[in-house]
Amino acid sequence: MSQKIWVGTNWKMTKTIKEGLAYTEELNRISETLSSNIELFIIPSHTALIPIRELTSKSRVHIGAQNMHWKDEGAFTGEISPNMLAEIGIDIIELGHSERRQYYNENDVDINKKLHAGLRHGFTPLVCIGENMEQKNNNISKETLAAQLKVCLKDLTKEQASKVMVAYEPVWAIGENGIPAEATYVAKVHAFLRKQLVELFEDTGTDIPLLYGGSVNLDNFIEYIDIEDINGLFIGRAAWNMESFEQILQHLDEHLFA
Ligand code: PGA
Repeated sequence: MSQKIWVGTNWKMTKTIKEGLAYTEELNRISETLSSNIELFIIPSHTALIPIRELTSKSRVHIGAQNMHWKDEGAFTGEISPNMLAEIGIDIIELGHSERRQYYNENDVDINKKLHAGLRHGFTPLVCIGENMEQKNNNISKETLAAQLKVCLKDLTKEQASKVMVAYEPVWAIGENGIPAEATYVAKVHAFLRKQLVELFEDTGTDIPLLYGGSVNLDNFIEYIDIEDINGLFIGRAAWNMESFEQILQHLDEHLFA
């Protein structure tokens, strides 16, 4: 396999600036030992973005923000705008993580507005989609995911679509109480998502990186990365600890690119 893969982590509401800097220094060091086919990214808290941008300015680690508003400025207390993130110089904007949807009522229409704002500012949107347990149990996973893709990616040109990444993260597989998904299930869903992307974007749908996330850990990451339509891993807890993230990265490198 010579194709690039994306591997990254969203820190959620963990890590102070100090902790984040120590982590990033380690990651910079490890990144130098890895094949250039691995695109690495971290998504820190907003407060840590500025110093982490400085620390990664000469490294190959991309940085992203966990959320933003779609407007460039305005009376939206507590929000952060694309202008503000552009000033810091982020690479990736994560949109629609299930925790944003679940706890802050974010919906596909909001995500679509943010996606267009992110593209206007030259960020790479990382759009998260996933069905919850109730939808899975009612056998409407495919319908749910197709609708999420269609609305989140609405009104994109084929060229714009080629600048977007999608992460499939089944809500029931995420976090402390998550149940890791069977690789066979993930393979079926990713094949379905690829088909949907190709239907939506005839020429560029095949190139959109499709990442997988949800309880990815040392025991299961190889099974997932071996799935044909998976182009990367989006990891939470197992990447917050550098010892375990380093092992994952090194094994991936050996497994795919040695
Ligand atoms: P997890 O988080 O790996 O800790 O389940 C994944 C995510 O929320 O993206």
